[in-house]
Amino acid sequence: MSGKEVTILGIETSCDETAAAIVTNGRQIRSSVVASQTQLHEKFGGVVPEIASRAHVEKILPIVEEAVEQAGVTAAEIDAVAVANQPGLTIALMVGVTAAKTLAFAWDKPLVAVNHVHAHLQSAMLEAESIELPAVALIVSGGHSNLYDAESVLDLRLLGRTIDDAAGEAFDKVASILGLPYPGGPNIEKIAKEGNPKAVRFPRSLMEKDSLDFSFSGLKTAVLYYCQGQDMKGENRVASMSRREIADIAASFQAAVIEVLVKKTERAAKQIGAKTVLMGGGVACNGALREAMEAMCKKEHLALMIAAKKFCTDNAAMVASLAYYKYMAGQFADLSLEPKATSD
Ligand code: KG4
Ligand code: ZN
Repeated sequence: MSGKEVTILGIETSCDETAAAIVTNGRQIRSSVVASQTQLHEKFGGVVPEIASRAHVEKILPIVEEAVEQAGVTAAEIDAVAVANQPGLTIALMVGVTAAKTLAFAWDKPLVAVNHVHAHLQSAMLEAESIELPAVALIVSGGHSNLYDAESVLDLRLLGRTIDDAAGEAFDKVASILGLPYPGGPNIEKIAKEGNPKAVRFPRSLMEKDSLDFSFSGLKTAVLYYCQGQDMKGENRVASMSRREIADIAASFQAAVIEVLVKKTERAAKQIGAKTVLMGGGVACNGALREAMEAMCKKEHLALMIAAKKFCTDNAAMVASLAYYKYMAGQFADLSLEPKATSD
């Protein structure tokens, strides 16, 4: 290819954020617009797929228009349309996929399909000048807790994943047990700052010696037992707990999740002889996790790249960025592209 600039419109609707972004050459973010639906789902304590899908339908075109306008580009200057088509809520992904196919057809541009979880990893690479390989990548979000061996942006080998709840899901469920509002992660982090992480010794599930899989449902159940009594017949005591007691539970739970995430990342780095650790996904916003990962990497002499907080949660800049590398590699989708709940 010549030195021509490649500008891509990215679209993201896999869960409860409607997002569009314009990115040039995979790194120059010219606009990144995200409309969050948190308020719509808050009273249900989690994402309701039908409500998410309907909200995406209402928001997608205004959000794309805003992204194009903020970037100051015309349709003629856009080289490709990219969309996250997997994994996620099918009826939510459907809206982004349909919008991307329609725009690609109407503008006569190539279509690029990306994996949402792989795109999260791209967020960690956005600001990196260069990355020393091999790298271990930890993606921790509401739907995924995955460890990868990242040989290049396009070459990811799954090393481990959650066998039950994802890390973010555990944060959200424990927040609900503790009577904290949705989404749980940021609210647990906030109250945990007032608590003692050593107050309650919750279990750390590290499984067999070499395992790189995660399991967080036992930890969630341990919090529930703690709040309701071992027979689970007791009332949830949270209503009668002091703020300090709730803060102690939140801090102790958070410490257990972080210890497991950091230890498994260290284990994976040792197994593949990694030089670098990459981290992204919504849970990577967590300040205590960022600090603990930093301390481990310093001790193990590993380089660390964590996505900027605003790019940890769902956004379309990561979609357009990853799409650039697929575009350059000639990996295009066609108009038969379908949304998929799980990864290929
Ligand atoms: O990446 P994301 O926006 O969406 C998915 O692809 O799932 O991640 C959302 C998840 C939620 O479970 C949310 O509770 C969690 O990330 N999260 C956090 C924090 N901010 C968001 N978890 C822990 N600490 C945070 N500060
Ligand atoms: Zn995500």
